[in-house]
Amino acid sequence: MQYLFKIKYLRKQWVKSLVILSTCIISFLLAQILSITMYPSNSLSQAQEVSALPPCSAIPRLLEPPDPNALSKPPAPAVPQSAPAPKIDRVGMPNNYQNNYKLIYVVDKPDSNQVRVICGNNLAVSAKLGEPFPYGSIFVMEIYRAKQDSQGNVVKDEKGQFIREALAAIYVQRKEKGFGVDYLENRSGEWEYIGYQPDQTYWPTGAPGKTNACAACHLKLVGKDQDFVFSQN
Ligand code: HEC
Repeated sequence: MQYLFKIKYLRKQWVKSLVILSTCIISFLLAQILSITMYPSNSLSQAQEVSALPPCSAIPRLLEPPDPNALSKPPAPAVPQSAPAPKIDRVGMPNNYQNNYKLIYVVDKPDSNQVRVICGNNLAVSAKLGEPFPYGSIFVMEIYRAKQDSQGNVVKDEKGQFIREALAAIYVQRKEKGFGVDYLENRSGEWEYIGYQPDQTYWPTGAPGKTNACAACHLKLVGKDQDFVFSQN
């Protein structure tokens, strides 16, 4: 009888220690998972991602571009060319962006028969998703005419993508503290915009004093949540 009691007691102890042990294991695993998801050395993985991105001049398409249908027919806000804009170019043509900037994505624009190549400097591409871009961020968008046949139809490659032909324009946007005030009610955060031609003269609608429409469209179509940058998503 006494012997039986002892076994029951031991069994109780055994169950108790099993419960304690499994609680320990579970909380250890939980802590492990939490520390991985909460501190994934975010900057580290992002830094690796950044250095893994090829230079702006690379041909391949890296990421799925934002839904091209959603972006292909923007209801362009009507802004007269005389609308207020910075009179001085504080953006500047980025030096050797082809090699110094990272390629973010390439997108075909069926409505305008263009291929657009979007690149950013290291600050711009290392910004965390959903957070405002740091000062000093610069984006470049190369606008190419897509190759067309003699009937004016766009020629596609074996993957069904447009083929870049002549580079038509280089659009640049730069974020610095206090930038953008001159756009008045069409100000899109602290960005200023400039458009160049390949020979580095100004693109007619991208020249100093003429870029209100740039800010207006980025303000109205993207908004503050993405810091007025389409490529955020
Ligand atoms: C009618 C709307 C519209 C106007 C006007 C406009 N943009 Fe944009 N911009 C876009 C869209 C849409 C994209 C995303 C890429 C795409 O689909 O073409 C973009 C992307 C960009 C990018 C790449 C970074 C980003 O924000 O995603 C730059 C740089 C840029 N635009 C500069 C300019 C400049 C400079 C001007 C004026 C000369 C200008 N834009 C005028 C709609 C506009």
